Amino acid sequence: MFSKLSTALLCIVSIMGGTVSSQNTSTSSSSLNQTFYKDVNVTRGLTYHYYFSPPSEDQPVLMFLHGFPSSSYDWHNQIEFFQVEGYGLIVPDMLGYGGTAKPVNPELYKSSLISQDMVDLLDAENVEEAIVVGHDWGSKIVARLANYFPERFSAFGFVSVGYFPPSVFDANMTEINNLTTQAIGYEIFGYWDFFSSDGADTLIENRLDSFYDLLFPNDTVFWITDFAPEGKMQAWLEANRTTATGNYVTQEERNTQISIWRDEGMAAAVCWYIIVTSDIERDDDQGIPQDNLTIKKPVFFGAALRDYVAIAASHISRTLQASENTTTIHEYNSGHWAMFEVAAQLNSDLLAWVESL
Ligand SMILES: *[C@@H]1O[C@H](CO)[C@@H](O)[C@H](O)[C@H]1NC(C)=O
Ligand SMILES: *[C@@H]1O[C@H](CO)[C@@H](O)[C@H](O)[C@H]1NC(C)=O
Ligand SMILES: *[C@@H]1O[C@H](CO)[C@@H](O)[C@H](O)[C@H]1NC(C)=O
Ligand SMILES: *[C@@H]1O[C@H](CO)[C@@H](O)[C@H](O)[C@H]1NC(C)=O
Ligand SMILES: *[C@@H]1O[C@H](CO)[C@@H](O)[C@H](O)[C@H]1NC(C)=O
Ligand SMILES: *[C@@H]1O[C@H](CO)[C@@H](O)[C@H](O)[C@H]1NC(C)=O
Ligand SMILES: *[C@@H]1O[C@H](CO)[C@@H](O)[C@H](O)[C@H]1NC(C)=O
Ligand SMILES: *[C@@H]1O[C@H](CO)[C@@H](O)[C@H](O)[C@H]1NC(C)=O
Ligand SMILES: *[C@@H]1O[C@H](CO)[C@@H](O)[C@H](O)[C@H]1NC(C)=O
Repeated sequence: MFSKLSTALLCIVSIMGGTVSSQNTSTSSSSLNQTFYKDVNVTRGLTYHYYFSPPSEDQPVLMFLHGFPSSSYDWHNQIEFFQVEGYGLIVPDMLGYGGTAKPVNPELYKSSLISQDMVDLLDAENVEEAIVVGHDWGSKIVARLANYFPERFSAFGFVSVGYFPPSVFDANMTEINNLTTQAIGYEIFGYWDFFSSDGADTLIENRLDSFYDLLFPNDTVFWITDFAPEGKMQAWLEANRTTATGNYVTQEERNTQISIWRDEGMAAAVCWYIIVTSDIERDDDQGIPQDNLTIKKPVFFGAALRDYVAIAASHISRTLQASENTTTIHEYNSGHWAMFEVAAQLNSDLLAWVESL
């Protein structure tokens, strides 16, 4: 029981959230300068849209990977900060979001394929080696890049969601949620079933303000009561409930994110959940050799102490266990959206880490 429980907590804990960005500048007041965006077709033919800024002289290139249901705009505070510092930047809209391709076939969202896409973006910019930083499902891709392409990155950074171990078991969400209830009192991943269910995309699209408030609540306890447990998110949306948005979110950020959701829809984005509640993720992860499970380069983890889905203690523990090299851990008084809520602190900690490499 203990090992099964820790496996469940270790393997799964994650995520959620969202932001948005790019592409439709007619409705968005995105603070990012659109002239820095480029488009490239990766090897498998899909188009990626990404923010690119070349490094000054021999400064390193940073790659930032966002999560659900977001876009490169999630990182606008980091882009503005590190661009001024002279770092190179590659910040893609991930598959299913923003100006990047939005296929609705979940098979295309396998981590091994998306990892290759990220390396294709490095190749497109002739970048031999980068420092990669992820948040939410973007952190899962950072973990897979460490597993599949360790030689292309000099260091690996995680925000809110730490190292994501490869999936090793059948994703029976009923059992997993039962285990998390026994461990900490609520179903941490109950909402995965909702995102993976037919019609979730349409319900969200019809309740964008309600969805936004639940993703970015000022009171992060809503994630315990109304976000994570089975059936609760759906009930919240059906009732079109609202609550105060996090006081760290500006009106411009809220408007930008909601307008991108409205323009692009959720049908592609939910594929990031369908692969983990089906066998797709587990089968894909079989290709990771045992020797590639640990990270032999420096690691950064910014833990969010009020993220009640990506539980800080669990994510710190699993990140330390996966790291063979130096591990830099920072703990923030923040909910899931550390890159917004504690942007200045995160930026200065990331800068100190990058300068130390
Ligand atoms: C941008 O959004 C506006 C309003 O929602 C819409 O009319 C327009 O077609 C969109 N443009 C593109 C290129 O998607
Ligand atoms: C966007 O960046 C370009 C190139 O650096 C610059 O010429 C332009 O003025 C910028 N636009 C805005 C709105 O800042
Ligand atoms: C990239 O792929 C898109 C969609 O398949 C296609 O329309 C476009 O021509 C391709 N662009 C390049 C540069 O190959
Ligand atoms: C495992 O890691 C090595 C580098 O240590 C890399 O060359 C190799 O391609 C990785 N294996 C797989 C299957 O990705
Ligand atoms: C998941 O586990 C529960 C409890 O053990 C079981 O009743 C159910 O049939 C399982 N579901 C699937 C899809 O295997
Ligand atoms: C959860 O697991 C416990 C212990 O195995 C079991 O008694 C209980 O019925 C399970 N509950 C659900 C909802 O599956
Ligand atoms: C938001 O939360 C902060 C504490 O984090 C609190 O001081 C503030 O009053 C809250 N604002 C609203 C509108 O609830
Ligand atoms: C849901 O509430 C928003 C305000 O938060 C309102 O604009 C919208 O019309 C409501 N939608 C439905 C379907 O009731
Ligand atoms: C840690 O990573 C640095 C930078 O890649 C490397 O030079 C060093 O050899 C690594 N140390 C260990 C113990 O792996």
